[in-house]
Amino acid sequence: MNKPASIGVFDSGVGGLTVLRALRATLPEARLIYVADSAHAPYGDRSDDFLLERSRQVTRFLIEEGARLIVVACNTATAAAIAALRSEFDLPFVGIEPGIKPALARSDTRRVGVLATPSTLRSAKFRALLHTHASADEPVLQPCPGLADAVERGDLAAPDLRQLIHRYCAPLHAAQCDTVVLGCTHYPLLAQAIQAELGPRVHLIDTAEPVARQAARLWKTEPATPAEPPRLYTNGDLAVLRRMADLCAQQDATVHRWSAAPHGAP
Ligand code: DGL
Repeated sequence: MNKPASIGVFDSGVGGLTVLRALRATLPEARLIYVADSAHAPYGDRSDDFLLERSRQVTRFLIEEGARLIVVACNTATAAAIAALRSEFDLPFVGIEPGIKPALARSDTRRVGVLATPSTLRSAKFRALLHTHASADEPVLQPCPGLADAVERGDLAAPDLRQLIHRYCAPLHAAQCDTVVLGCTHYPLLAQAIQAELGPRVHLIDTAEPVARQAARLWKTEPATPAEPPRLYTNGDLAVLRRMADLCAQQDATVHRWSAAPHGAP
């Protein structure tokens, strides 16, 4: 427990790097440790029990590595597990959820689309969010099975990935949405392709920055001097993590293998 105080960040895989990028911009002197649980990705069609167990296991590792605050950089895990994590562990958690409220505020036509995992869209937490903010302006909800998984394979220009983007954007295009929520942290890595599919006038909403601001409000620890690059861990493909970290402007981050106990082990 003598490891230096850090912010722990995790996702099912490489998507949460889009949140890590915002955290680093907001808190350049904080130590950041990231876990990509890629061996168990995608989370988007798993049960709540599975997601909670994975989240517990990653949280234990991050605490052992010095985390004093944890950012759940995954909409799916936030919806399924953050309430239980907060009650089971004695440190603060910041989660991420689809930006319904900012999307409705930004939209001129109040035609809003949401791209997210099936698990996020059917969660009680998301339904409550919708109920609070959307009222009669029911957004167009588009589950995107397979999309985060395709990102995890590491080739963002792969034809099957481009076909999925085309398929999932088509209903939002047909509904003339002027604002689209990127409700999974993997999707900002595809922002260019999604924008090209929807057209240049459609606003894309990513909630990484508000999450980083919330983490900054809670982070009271002494800054690391000199600042240290983030440490990134994966139980998946190191080369994919490296490539996606570079895409997220984290060329100086170090990548490491995370050899966790298999799923279900205590
Ligand atoms: N990046 C995650 C999210 O924000 C999960 C993607 C997945 O593994 O299905 O929901």
